[in-house]
Order: sequence, then structure tokens, then C-alpha cells
Amino acid sequence: MSEIAKLELNGKVYEFPVITGSENEKAIDISTLRSATGYITLDPGFKNTGSTKSGITFLNGEEGILRYRGYPIEQLAEKAEFLEVAYLLIYGSLPTLAQYTKFKKTITLHTLIHEDMREFFEAYPAKAHPMGILAASLSSLSTFYPESHDPYRPQEAVDLTIYRLLAKLPTLAAWAYKNAMRHPVVYPKNNLDYCENFLNMMFSMPTEDYKVNPVVAQALNKLLILHADHEQNCSAATVRVVGSSQANLYTSVAAGVSALWGPLHGGANQAVIEMLEAIRNDGGDVDKWINKAKDKDDTFRLMGFGHRVYKNFDPRATIIKKASDDVLKALGVNDPVLDIAKKLETVALNDDYFKSRGLYPNVDFYSGIIYRALNIPSEMFTVMFAIGRLPGWIAQWKEMIEDKAPIGRPRQVYTGATKRDFVDIDKR
Ligand code: CMC
Repeated sequence: MSEIAKLELNGKVYEFPVITGSENEKAIDISTLRSATGYITLDPGFKNTGSTKSGITFLNGEEGILRYRGYPIEQLAEKAEFLEVAYLLIYGSLPTLAQYTKFKKTITLHTLIHEDMREFFEAYPAKAHPMGILAASLSSLSTFYPESHDPYRPQEAVDLTIYRLLAKLPTLAAWAYKNAMRHPVVYPKNNLDYCENFLNMMFSMPTEDYKVNPVVAQALNKLLILHADHEQNCSAATVRVVGSSQANLYTSVAAGVSALWGPLHGGANQAVIEMLEAIRNDGGDVDKWINKAKDKDDTFRLMGFGHRVYKNFDPRATIIKKASDDVLKALGVNDPVLDIAKKLETVALNDDYFKSRGLYPNVDFYSGIIYRALNIPSEMFTVMFAIGRLPGWIAQWKEMIEDKAPIGRPRQVYTGATKRDFVDIDKR
């Protein structure tokens, strides 16, 4: 028998259906609430609100489970290639060899960006944050492909936009870095795979060839997979809301980049390294910083700790912690901030403040340490997250369009002034 939720308001009982997901997740469907009762729900930060049904990513925060299209993140991070995972997220199943070969080949055909766009990069100040450049340049792509503006085009036309985005984002990201260095940009090389090509565009110089170290390329592949989707997070929800107005995919994804930039979301990976460096420069007194994080009068938070949905552990953090040990060992890197990170983690995990609030290291706590070992500068960390998250944003957008989702438009409880009459300026 299907479950029913009952709501009693002013002596009248209203019934709402209970929806059960494929992993037995429960939701009360309140889509008729306002028309039936005149009331709305209030849920700041959407802590209890499901904004959509989705078949892309399953996440159980209590048990630390993360699966893309049913496949456990641990297996994908161990065995898959990033573009294989991108295909899985976007098209719903793992590609066959023939499908994957075609998919990869098609993506390499679109890695160049329009030559006119190269001039944009030269116009940005050297100190420009690459996330700002990335958001702007992704939106700019839409101006070069005006035919992409209608989200309800035939599937192959939508696919072309998807290929272009996947192909061009690493080029845009590497060029944002080259801009900051005031170095000439490096063009994509289509004989390299996705991660190798990105590393080559980042580190190759006219003066010196860059040889991709397989340890580095494999570590990058793993990091991108771990970041590829995370159901209805802040940036994915942003992409869906922007896309729900039928704005084009380029600009919807650009909005996702802006949402990701903040330090409470993807920007945390840069903030973690800056925090660890600040602790080291301050003499390495971990307890002092733990106390700052616990002090409600201090705005400081322990970056890389806590998560809206994971309250026991973040499965991505478990994989990344091990990967960071392996990568540092393989590359022979001895990073002093790693010791601070480990000490901080031990102290926090044994502290009642963090234990009682379910605050554990998240994916970003160790990812910056790997990126540093790969020679990626801290301002580029969130850009790396964006490259990883792109397939997720695309998959979320595509599902939303295919489901013909209504425009995202929440309501509010108004708490401002009641009606009052305008007062002429000389009488105020
Ligand atoms: N340091 C100190 N206290 C914290 C922290 C932290 N990192 N995170 C949460 N708290 C406290 C918070 O002050 C609150 O305490 P109280 O109940 O006494 O008021 C309690 O824990 C619950 O916090 P919240 O802000 O209500 O939780 P939230 O679900 O709204 O926020 C979060 C989740 C990730 C924004 C938050 O934990 C945070 O700011 N963490 C640091 C930033 C960070 O690492 N973000 C990356 C998240 S993982 C990458 C991604 O997927 O985006």
C-alpha cells in the first residue's frame, strides 16, 4: 500500500503522497501544498527539500555511499577513465569499446577554441582569478555558437554542444593559467589523452618540451572522476535553475562555475591549502586553529571539514587521502603541509565539537595536497574541480531538459514593510 503523509492545519487534514526512490529514499510530495492549503514550506538552504527526482547519482551521507548511475565511486576511481565516466553520467550507461572510441575521437576534434577568443585572454589582468576567466569564457563560447541557444534542438545538435564543452574546458582552463603566468598559450594536441593533453597545455613551454609523467596523469584522472558529480549540490542546483529558464547549456554551466568558486563549495580546496600554509607560517600550533574554528565569535572555519550530506565520512576523502600518500611517494615529494593536515585531522576527529556535529574531512581536505604535488598552483585548484564536475553539470542539465522541468522559482515569506505611501524627497 502506498504511504500517505497527513498534514493538519487549522483543524483540516490534508493528504500528500509519499514518493519512494530506487534506494528506498522517502519524500513527501508537496507539489499541491500551496494550491490546497494556501501555505508554503520554509527551508533555508534547502536542507530538507528535494528539488527533483534524478537517476544520475546516488548518495547516502549517513553510510558514506556515492554511486554514479549505480556504479560505486571506489570502482570507478580505481578502474575507469575520466571520459568513460563522463559518458556514463551523461548518457546513462558505460560505453561499449566502439562507443567510447568514437566519443573520445569526437571530443579531440573540438579541443581548439576560436582564434578570436584567444585575444580575450590577453585582455585579462595577470592577477585575474582563473575561475573568473573560466566563467566568462564559458559564457562567451555561446556567442560563437548561437545555434546552440535552443535547448530543445535535436539530440545530435545538443550532443555537439556537449562535445564542445568537454573538449574546450581544459583548453580554456590551461589558457587561463598561461595568462596568469604571462606565458604564450599552448595549443591542444590530439594525440594525447584528455588528462595528458591538459597537463601538456599547462606545463609545456616554447623553450622546453614537457613529458607527461604517467603517475601525474593517473592521479589527475582519479581526481577528476571523484569530482564528476555529486547530485543536487550548490553548483548542480544552480545549473539546473539557470537551465530551467531555457538559457543555453554554455551559460548554464558558466553559472555552475560561479557557484563552485565560493570557499564553502569548490573553492574550499584552495582555501584548505591557504589555511594549512597560514598554520605553518604561524608556527604550526594546530590547537590554536582548532579553537578558532570552534569559537562562535570567530568567522574562521576549518576548511575541508564538514559537509551538508556526509555526516560520518566522505567516501571521496577516503580515496583521496590514500591517493595523496601514493602520489607524494611516487613523485618523491615531501610536503610539510601534509604533516599539518594529518595533525589537524587527528585533533579534530577526537574533539567533541567536531564529533558531535558530524564534521569530517571532505573531498577538498587532501585534494589540494595532490594538486600541489602535481605542480598545479593553488588558484587553479577550483578550476581543476570544475573540469572534473563538468560531466555532472551536463548530465544534470540534460536530465532537467528531458524531464521538461518547470522553471526554478522558489517562493518566500515576506518580512519587509507593509504598504506605506511615497514621501517626497524634501519631506523625508
Ligand atoms: N569548521 C567549524 N565549524 C563548522 C564547520 C567547519 N568547517 N562546518 C560546520 N561547522 C559547524 C557550524 O558552525 C554549525 O555549528 P552550530 O550547530 O553550533 O551552529 C554546524 O557545524 C553545522 O554547520 P552548517 O553550516 O549548518 O552546515 P551546512 O550543512 O550548512 O554546511 C559546509 C556545510 C560544507 C558549508 C560547512 O561544513 C563548511 O563551511 N565547511 C567548510 C568549507 C568546506 O570545506 N567546503 C567544501 C565542502 S566539500 C566540496 C563540495 O562538495 O562542495
